[in-house]
Amino acid sequence: MVSTIVLVCTLCSLVAARDPDESRDSIELLRSRGFDAEVHYVKTHDGYILAIHRILNPLVNATGKPVILQHGLISSSSQFIINSPNESVDLPAEVMGPNIGLTLSRLGYDVWLPNVRGNTYSRNHTTLNPDKDTSFWNFTWDDHALSDLPAVVDFIREKTDSQTVAYVGHSQGVLTMLCLLSTRKEYNQVIKPFIAMAPVAVLKSMKSPIKYLARNTFLVEYFKWKGGQFLPSDRYMRRLAEQVCDSRYMFVCSNLMFLLSGFDGAQLNNTRLGVYFSHLPAGTSALNIIHYAQQYHAQNRVQMYDFGRMGNIRKYGQESPPEYHFERITNRYIALLSGLNDWLVNPTDLNKLRMKLRVPLLMDYVVENPEWNHQDFLFARDVTDQINSRIVEVLDRYA
Ligand SMILES: *[C@@H]1O[C@H](CO)[C@@H](O)[C@H](O)[C@H]1NC(C)=O
Ligand SMILES: *[C@@H]1O[C@H](CO)[C@@H](O)[C@H](O)[C@H]1NC(C)=O
Ligand SMILES: *[C@@H]1O[C@H](CO)[C@@H](O)[C@H](O)[C@H]1NC(C)=O
Ligand SMILES: *[C@@H]1O[C@H](CO)[C@@H](O)[C@H](O)[C@H]1NC(C)=O
Ligand SMILES: *[C@@H]1O[C@H](CO)[C@@H](O)[C@H](O)[C@H]1NC(C)=O
Repeated sequence: MVSTIVLVCTLCSLVAARDPDESRDSIELLRSRGFDAEVHYVKTHDGYILAIHRILNPLVNATGKPVILQHGLISSSSQFIINSPNESVDLPAEVMGPNIGLTLSRLGYDVWLPNVRGNTYSRNHTTLNPDKDTSFWNFTWDDHALSDLPAVVDFIREKTDSQTVAYVGHSQGVLTMLCLLSTRKEYNQVIKPFIAMAPVAVLKSMKSPIKYLARNTFLVEYFKWKGGQFLPSDRYMRRLAEQVCDSRYMFVCSNLMFLLSGFDGAQLNNTRLGVYFSHLPAGTSALNIIHYAQQYHAQNRVQMYDFGRMGNIRKYGQESPPEYHFERITNRYIALLSGLNDWLVNPTDLNKLRMKLRVPLLMDYVVENPEWNHQDFLFARDVTDQINSRIVEVLDRYA
């Protein structure tokens, strides 16, 4: 069986044209477009070492306003720069492009691309070894929100000597910022503006088949027992993904992507699937996936990881996990960008989030195209006009 797969893959690797972006990491991607990059290592209070990629633009002298672009679940910094290959550093700044990271850098913003603990670039810790110590993988989005995010924001503020930073999040990158703002009041004065694409919060009505995982007690218990990582980007997985996605079997890849995020064939560049799947998935913990499964069952309540009654008493001093109170958010610079065919952020769930937020929104933009899905905020053919131009509009006004 394995040898058949290897044989088939070897054959199709001879046939398929490999896109050079498939083997480039975030730094190499930036350099190949004429930008430069810095890597910064940030330590969290619990010893995780996170890599942040900062875009340097050799054609812009002054460093502009810092902007954080925060990736989503099982993703990484590269999601903001891989969409299309032809956006080089010397495009005139006023020409909007399809890669938001590159576009913002060309416009003079100081772009920072963090990576959450456990992904391809942030498998690092002061004492734990991700390959040997299962306790390295003992984290969920609570830790992304309450440990990774403040460490990253504080670091960038200090490096750039700025009172405020602009923040653009996608998916989990939105959820975690909402959790941080509702828990640590002081960050409401720091994040300006907060642009929320595909705002994941309440998951009660999601269409994505992740919910079947959530419904399957056996699977959930298995994941809990096994612990460790979920969908890491290891070399073999990546080779396999590239070879299938670049071959005539690419429909397997597009369907997999649609299945998780909603079907939108018109917006997806099929010839680029090999690139997308060589960068995604980028790994997280099994526990994090369990936390999403719990969130599906938690109805309209957004809450911390549920360790079970005894575990909760030990961890939180109460029997049930604490709720994140989004109504406590005081930040008045929030812009929501959402899609109608987003299988993770159902319009009903999004309404629940709107009701929780007591602050007036800067913008509540719903893409008119009824097919717009979860990934389209990053990889759609029309992303430049639909999304990127709006992000720039909000940043230019409020950052
Ligand atoms: C950057 O500064 C140099 C030297 O001061 C100047 O010659 C160059 O035109 C500037 N470039 C831009 C893009 O402003
Ligand atoms: C990038 O390529 C696409 C199609 O290959 C083209 O439509 C678009 O205009 C190009 N963009 C730039 C900025 O050259
Ligand atoms: C881990 O972090 C240190 C900085 O503390 C850095 O020098 C090293 O390159 C990192 N290792 C990996 C694999 O990212
Ligand atoms: C994981 O974290 C929880 C709570 O922080 C703790 O109770 C548990 O012992 C940890 N498990 C491992 C394997 O470190
Ligand atoms: C679609 O993907 C291919 C392969 O990476 C690329 O050459 C082409 O420019 C992409 N088209 C657009 C419109 O970005």
